[in-house]
Amino acid sequence: MTLPFQPAGAFPVPSNVILATMRSADEARVHALHAVVFGPGRYARTAFRLREKAAPLVALSYVAEEDGVLIGAVSMSRVAVGEARGVLLGPLAVLPQKRDLGVGKALLARAVASAFSVGESFVLLVGDLPYYAPVGFTRVPFGQMVLPGPVDPSRLLIATNPEAMVDVPAGAVRGRA
Ligand SMILES: CC(C)(COP(=O)(O)OP(=O)(O)OC[C@H]1O[C@@H](n2cnc3c(N)ncnc32)[C@H](O)[C@@H]1OP(=O)(O)O)[C@@H](O)C(=O)NCCC(=O)NCCS
Repeated sequence: MTLPFQPAGAFPVPSNVILATMRSADEARVHALHAVVFGPGRYARTAFRLREKAAPLVALSYVAEEDGVLIGAVSMSRVAVGEARGVLLGPLAVLPQKRDLGVGKALLARAVASAFSVGESFVLLVGDLPYYAPVGFTRVPFGQMVLPGPVDPSRLLIATNPEAMVDVPAGAVRGRA
């Protein structure tokens, strides 16, 4: 069941884990994390292709560090759906040996809260609804959006900004420069 948008503080992390805004200097570490988590096939995914044309939003992206070591990250980039402007969330990745500690949901909730706090009207992602629903994501109605590649429509998820009270946008999804 999808819950209403949850504040970032609803998802705590262990006391030795710190969430911080991503800096450009983190690029190499985040790239290495993606290589470990997603492997070489990652560039073929539709979400990766979409992000190639989308400007990264480093200020809304977060890393998780444990004792200074990067253990997880979530990236955000600019997208448009039809005329509506919002954010694409992903990849979200946590090192295999650091999973089930709450780091993934904490990163997710922090990134979504940041996007809404600066007035972004929606956050879109491709992922499994059971994982993302507790943070406030719901399925995009089938056929409402067109992506630049194959995506399982049951995995196209959206959270809309409760302050903006916008409808789920419709149309082609494309990266924004
Ligand atoms: C998905 C991912 C980010 C979760 O990170 P995490 O830090 O372990 O997540 P959390 O600790 O917040 O949540 C763990 C819970 O989510 C569940 N979960 C993990 N992946 C899930 C999925 N795809 N669908 C449903 N539930 C899932 C776990 O079983 C666990 O359940 P529990 O709390 O009942 O034990 C991590 O598993 C990962 O990096 N996976 C590979 C990359 C990926 O699939 N990224 C998402 C798409 S871009």
